[in-house]
Amino acid sequence: MSNVNDVKQRLDIVDVLSSYLSFARAGRYFKAACPFHEEKTPSFFVFPDRQSWRCFGCGAGGDVFSFIMKKEGVDFSQALRLMADRAGVSLSPGKRTTERKPDERLYEANEAAARYFHHLLLNSETATAALKYVTARGLDRKTVEDFQLGFSLGEGLKKHLAELGYREDDLLAVGLLKEKDGRKFEFFRHRLMFPIRDVKKRLLGFGGRALDDSAPKYLNSPQTVLFDKSGVLFGIDRASEAIREKRVAVMVEGYMDVVMAHQHGIRNVVGSMGTSLTEKQIKTLKAFTTNIAFALDPDVAGNEATLRGIEVARRAFDRGSLQMPSALGATSTLKADIRIIPLPEGKDPDDVIRENPEVWHELVKQALPLMDHLLNVASSKLDLTRPEGKSMASEQLLPLIAEIEDEMQREYYLGKLATLLGVNERILVNKASDLLRTRTERASRVKPRIDSVSRFGDRLEEYCLALLLQHPEIPREKDRLVPEYFERTENREIFLSMQETSNTERIAEIVAPDLREHLQSLLGTVLPPDAGARWETALSDCIRRLEERWLLVQEEFVTLEFEPFAGQDAAAARAQRELLEQRTKEINSRLTRAMRERAESGFGKERLNG
Ligand code: UTP
Ligand code: MN
Repeated sequence: MSNVNDVKQRLDIVDVLSSYLSFARAGRYFKAACPFHEEKTPSFFVFPDRQSWRCFGCGAGGDVFSFIMKKEGVDFSQALRLMADRAGVSLSPGKRTTERKPDERLYEANEAAARYFHHLLLNSETATAALKYVTARGLDRKTVEDFQLGFSLGEGLKKHLAELGYREDDLLAVGLLKEKDGRKFEFFRHRLMFPIRDVKKRLLGFGGRALDDSAPKYLNSPQTVLFDKSGVLFGIDRASEAIREKRVAVMVEGYMDVVMAHQHGIRNVVGSMGTSLTEKQIKTLKAFTTNIAFALDPDVAGNEATLRGIEVARRAFDRGSLQMPSALGATSTLKADIRIIPLPEGKDPDDVIRENPEVWHELVKQALPLMDHLLNVASSKLDLTRPEGKSMASEQLLPLIAEIEDEMQREYYLGKLATLLGVNERILVNKASDLLRTRTERASRVKPRIDSVSRFGDRLEEYCLALLLQHPEIPREKDRLVPEYFERTENREIFLSMQETSNTERIAEIVAPDLREHLQSLLGTVLPPDAGARWETALSDCIRRLEERWLLVQEEFVTLEFEPFAGQDAAAARAQRELLEQRTKEINSRLTRAMRERAESGFGKERLNG
């Protein structure tokens, strides 16, 4: 793997950009105010699937490198170095010097620390208070051992691990030590330690609970090569089997909730660690079940944003769902079943289970399917006797109901909503099918875009560059291909150098040294041998596809912006809608043109998709 890909592989764009911006989740995306131009409403989006970003206000976009280049005002090589540092990759010109095994050493360092913390808790006098705390919270000895709970004193770990031969660099890298004013300190101090493992039982990091009122209540390992809080499911290492057996994962918020559940033999429980469900967590769970029950406290359970987040997660879950061969040999798609477990006011699962596990089992039985729960929330929060309340409820719920694929279920909820609103069911049915139609039309168009993009390469971009590089003689329409179409900085940089000269040796001199390897591989890409006179068609086809892809992303944004948000006043919503409708029209007409031209040229798609 090249330096560039190696660095990319170790970084997550959302994570990197979140050191510069504060994001809000918007569906599958993250959204922020654009750092590159002045704006009131955020139009800067990050697309985790594609590992790319784009501002729909100023048109800038690209991948993690182009963001750093723009934001830090550095060139590609400098950006690569900054990111390599962050990812813990050491670069050398043209050659990768990272050893294959650093992760294993890091996991081992964590293991050694966990053993040390655990030993302290059970054996050291310094941990007397911590042990008392554990008892006071109702945890028994076996649980402490099963979860390998520990105690961090704040000193001693560093020396102990040094004696065992662990490298200080590694301890810094996993966040057990931190550096301040040139000195190295232990990160966790006077805390009850919860080791956090992934599904393969590898030790990613720790959560440390304060033993008194000091803040933060829980200190988690900092973001490291191993630990990414947003992707973690606490307890998954112990819960995965039970989740598979019971065919449902119960999602709770806290460390204590998980531990207490397991202590009572309720083993299909994992902790979201107080964040909303992320795609990474979904991906992990999906391997075991498509059924998730969320234990939510009443505050959160009525919170629209949270529920919306869950609904979005469900869709992510359904997208690319597990294809299960059925008895008849056909495949059917397993759909996620999301339920909400209502918790009593002011209690979390830890409290409930500790007081009376029976009550917990009862609550789990009462879990409501997400849609029923949403209907309940709407009827308790909105005044459905008034027209405003009715339209609010319909605006919020109808799109969700329209998306239900199972016809029986869809009908059922449409009926329920109609009764709730006291309106004629036919009106809702019509509205829902309108909504559904636009959605399917869109979905059928958005599909091809996803194919050619993988996280580490972009076949379309690269095919296009290879054509241009290997056949500079092909005539092409000037200006139709613009740098913005290249999302990958390595491709964009090469494209930019090509605009200065068509001489490949000269290009190799101009591009950043780190990109020479990539350039070589483009020059060495084997193009279909029989294309001959059709190079020109192939190239224009390629350019149109890039253009389409760019436009489709724009379009996706426009649809996103269409979702009205709570608290927006009617006039503003209308103005926004009109503006966006205008933009949709423009995008659609460009898109139609590009697609038509491509269809007319008739160049085989299979070359790119094969
Ligand atoms: P809560 O504040 O609900 O705490 O946070 P809790 O789990 O009930 O903790 P106890 O019972 O007081 O010990 C829920 C979860 O959010 C994360 C932790 O994962 C916690 O378990 N959290 C909370 C943090 O990471 N840091 C914090 O400072 C607080
Ligand atoms: Mn609690």
